Amino acid sequence: MRKRTSWLLLLLLGLAATAGVLEARAQPDSNGFVSIDCGLPGTANYVDDATKLSYAPDAAFTEAGSNQNISDQYITSTLSKRYLSLRSFPSGMRNCYTVQSLEAGLKYLLRAEFMYGNYDGLNKPPIFDLYAGVNLWSRVNVSSSGDVEILEAIVVVPDDILQVCLVNTGSGTPFISALELRPLMNSIYPQANATQGLLLLARINFGESDAIVRYPDDPRDRIWIPWVDDTLWDVISTNDTVQSNLDYDSFEPPSKVMQTAIVPRNSNGSNDINLYWISEMLRRGQAPEYIPIMHFSEVQVLQSNDMREFTVGINNLQWPAFSPVYLSSYALYTSDPLPPATSYDVFLSATTNSTLPPLINAVEVYSIISTTNVGTDSSDVSAITAIKGEYRVQKNWAGDPCNPKTYAWDGLTCSYAISSSSRITRVNISFSGLDGDVSDSFANLMAVQDLDLSHNNFTGSIPNILSQLTSLRFLDLSSNQLSGSIPPGLLKRIQDGSLDLRYGNNPNLCTNVDSCKPPIKRKSKLAIYIVVPVVLVAVIVSVVGLVILFLRRKRQGSTSTRNTVKPQNEEPMSYAVASLPPSDAYGQSSLKLENRRFTYKELEMITNNFQHVLGQGGFGKVYDGFLEDGTQVAVKLRSQSSNQGVKEFLSEAQILTRIHHKNLVSMIGYCKDGQYMALVYEYMSEGTLQEQIAGKDRNVKHLTWRQRLRAALDSAHGLEYLHKGCNPPLIHRDVKATNILLNAKLEAKIADFGLSRAFNYDNEAHISTNTLVGTPGYVDPEYQATMQPTTKSDVYSFGVVLLELVTGRQAILYDPKPTNIIQWVRQRLARGNIEDIVDKRMCGEYDVNSVWKVADIALKCTMQATAQRPTMTDVVAQLQECVELEEGHRTGDEGHRTGDGTRGNFTGSSNNDLDLGYHTYVANRQSTKVTQTSTAFEMDQNFGKVPRMGKGPVAR
Ligand SMILES: *[C@@H]1O[C@H](CO)[C@@H](O)[C@H](O)[C@H]1NC(C)=O
Ligand SMILES: *[C@@H]1O[C@H](CO)[C@@H](O)[C@H](O)[C@H]1NC(C)=O
Ligand SMILES: *[C@@H]1O[C@H](CO)[C@@H](O)[C@H](O)[C@H]1NC(C)=O
Ligand SMILES: *[C@@H]1O[C@H](CO)[C@@H](O)[C@H](O)[C@H]1NC(C)=O
Repeated sequence: MRKRTSWLLLLLLGLAATAGVLEARAQPDSNGFVSIDCGLPGTANYVDDATKLSYAPDAAFTEAGSNQNISDQYITSTLSKRYLSLRSFPSGMRNCYTVQSLEAGLKYLLRAEFMYGNYDGLNKPPIFDLYAGVNLWSRVNVSSSGDVEILEAIVVVPDDILQVCLVNTGSGTPFISALELRPLMNSIYPQANATQGLLLLARINFGESDAIVRYPDDPRDRIWIPWVDDTLWDVISTNDTVQSNLDYDSFEPPSKVMQTAIVPRNSNGSNDINLYWISEMLRRGQAPEYIPIMHFSEVQVLQSNDMREFTVGINNLQWPAFSPVYLSSYALYTSDPLPPATSYDVFLSATTNSTLPPLINAVEVYSIISTTNVGTDSSDVSAITAIKGEYRVQKNWAGDPCNPKTYAWDGLTCSYAISSSSRITRVNISFSGLDGDVSDSFANLMAVQDLDLSHNNFTGSIPNILSQLTSLRFLDLSSNQLSGSIPPGLLKRIQDGSLDLRYGNNPNLCTNVDSCKPPIKRKSKLAIYIVVPVVLVAVIVSVVGLVILFLRRKRQGSTSTRNTVKPQNEEPMSYAVASLPPSDAYGQSSLKLENRRFTYKELEMITNNFQHVLGQGGFGKVYDGFLEDGTQVAVKLRSQSSNQGVKEFLSEAQILTRIHHKNLVSMIGYCKDGQYMALVYEYMSEGTLQEQIAGKDRNVKHLTWRQRLRAALDSAHGLEYLHKGCNPPLIHRDVKATNILLNAKLEAKIADFGLSRAFNYDNEAHISTNTLVGTPGYVDPEYQATMQPTTKSDVYSFGVVLLELVTGRQAILYDPKPTNIIQWVRQRLARGNIEDIVDKRMCGEYDVNSVWKVADIALKCTMQATAQRPTMTDVVAQLQECVELEEGHRTGDEGHRTGDGTRGNFTGSSNNDLDLGYHTYVANRQSTKVTQTSTAFEMDQNFGKVPRMGKGPVAR
């Protein structure tokens, strides 16, 4: 005859409830205990009658959810006060409690209690997940309205704070009734360590008939459930204290528990004690791993000829026979989990020599939970938590910012590394209605690469401290109410190309660093030395040697030009700018140009009397020069003989003063001195992209495909910035290979903004001009027809540049009669042979898929109909994929190293539809990606998930 008794049913017995009132405390008490009564209104603590422990209301621990009370029908006189109220979390995927002032690295016992009590009138207890920090603690499955579900775990808490999070899994609204944390010594429960925790299945005190044992009888406040069964067992007990010595027993069972034990009932006819528990197979067949701990102590004084000796076994595992010591606890346990099985049979059998039956005082069964997930870097957590607090961010910002990946905070992107902290790499809180100053806390996100604060109501000035974010590559502050100027540190980062800053549509922001400061007086001759952008001044100071160089050059310059320099014409720049068409959105900033001004005399010194010509444009010649600090520059001087170009000159000067981007050539200054007009740019040592493609001199190595791709992506970034990063958008109107310049690192930048125009989408009247501008071979046919340029006109021209990169030929080629490169490429690609068009000088050193894809992008960009062309944003994304393909090609399969001249690499099709090959290829690639992602997602979901067992050991 077997009688099965579930320990859970015994749980509800006898927890009395009364209330005393103390001040609220969000800190651990003198024992280090944290006891939270969830959903308790007000701020006052109360003392629990049974334990005399003080329970705090939960408002100080969580910011979400609402207080609820269980329905009357479930309230009984014995139900503890903490079960009467609860907090439910109807909104948000993940909601958390944050417990502070813990001891980092210490082992804690965590206990969460759930009493549903039909609080919502739905009579449908929910199922949801519970997390301890970033690791899954357990699934919570409240099986009935009237039960209290208790989940307990022993874990090492890595930080001084712990977040306990409830995650909505789509099966009802998560709620919680109570949350308790109890510190343990690290020597106790050696099976729990930093990478694995113990989830309690059962903790049973045999021989006690009614009362649950916990604090103060158990100083660690474990809950010991009493269990007697008169039909099977007799109870034996002692009134003397049972000693627990940590040297012999790693678990410190309380004396109160050890003072009672069970022995088989005489009438039972058996001398054995049998217990068992059933494993519940997990989803996907992964069984939980169990660790049993059994506690023994002799509680009877034995007669001299008596002996109690027995063996203990679980399934195939058996411990050697032993005799419990009188009033001294002893534990049998496993360090490693038991081998998986569907059921676990525990048997205690007396040895043949034993005169007394076996006894057992208590048992605990745990399963292993993995705690290998590591949270976000603590300095990142502090920074983003401060930001959250300062702006009261209305998002799902609860729990760990990055982990688990599935529940990362909205707007954050993180980097994840195995067994080390995640870092926040991207923060996008645009369109979040945030106001106030830009917090210095942003500067503490040391790993952030991409920070988007656009479209908020930020006011005040831009903190210079942001320039200390060495990883920061992209900062978007556009569409706010920022004022002041762009701080020098950030400006320097922009100029050295390490930062892409967007700050358009901040009406009060002064975008020229110099004009926002008190004007520098230029009365004395000495002042010449400091008429350079503020950013450069700092450099001069540190490079004394170059100042000497400057003095030398100055003398040379002045001797030769002394008599030719006319007195400065002090006509302010603004007059000239004011004459620009009023539709020019940048006109208002004209006054700000003034301080970056060079005199003609200075230009003579800078260029050593216009000695070395770098190139020649329609505007005039471009000269090589050196600033005082040794910075090499290019000086574009308007030809005096030409009446053309005044407007273009001013337009370009205005635009370049306002916008800064690493892929737009940057202007260092300008000269408007009498009839002399010049623009001073950063020096681009490798000249134009056109020269590089053509191979300007025969010794120069031709650009590799990789370098071409890089140049394409760089210049696409620059154009994308004009179209998307500027407000209103700018249309370049003269995109061509000669207007893309390369620096010593072969980084490409867009140049020549003389024809650029603001383009206002909101304004129905698009820019309409009487003169068609642009360069033959690059001009958008639709613009040509309508005389209305759009951003898609630039896209068209850029498509031509891409074709030049692929083919190594010019926009208009002679084959033998003049042919547009687009026609030329389309005709050849229609035959399905890429080798026909690819620049032979690349010697087949490219990934054929990557070349195909660029050709495809180019042809899309040059579609006749504007609407069919991609945006520059699309182009950037596509080119990025090409770069990835090429990288993969270089690092990976050597077999694909040379193109075989057909697209057979990725499709067997040989028809004339160019798109087919490419799309087939992309489709395949994407489907692979999706599969991998979903697999990874599934793995994440399952990782460490151990559902709570419904049954503890039962008697047999
Ligand atoms: C924790 O214990 C498990 C099992 O004994 C072991 O594999 C793991 O390495 C331990 N982790 C640490 C951090 O000691
Ligand atoms: C323990 O003490 C109680 C009350 O004093 C007594 O009734 C009981 O018999 C004692 N038990 C033993 C085993 O001495
Ligand atoms: C039982 O007792 C006998 C005699 O005292 C001894 O020889 C034998 O080893 C004991 N057996 C066990 C299993 O302890
Ligand atoms: C900024 O604040 C103004 C007034 O306070 C409000 O009208 C506007 O909607 C806010 N804009 C954003 C983007 O939050």
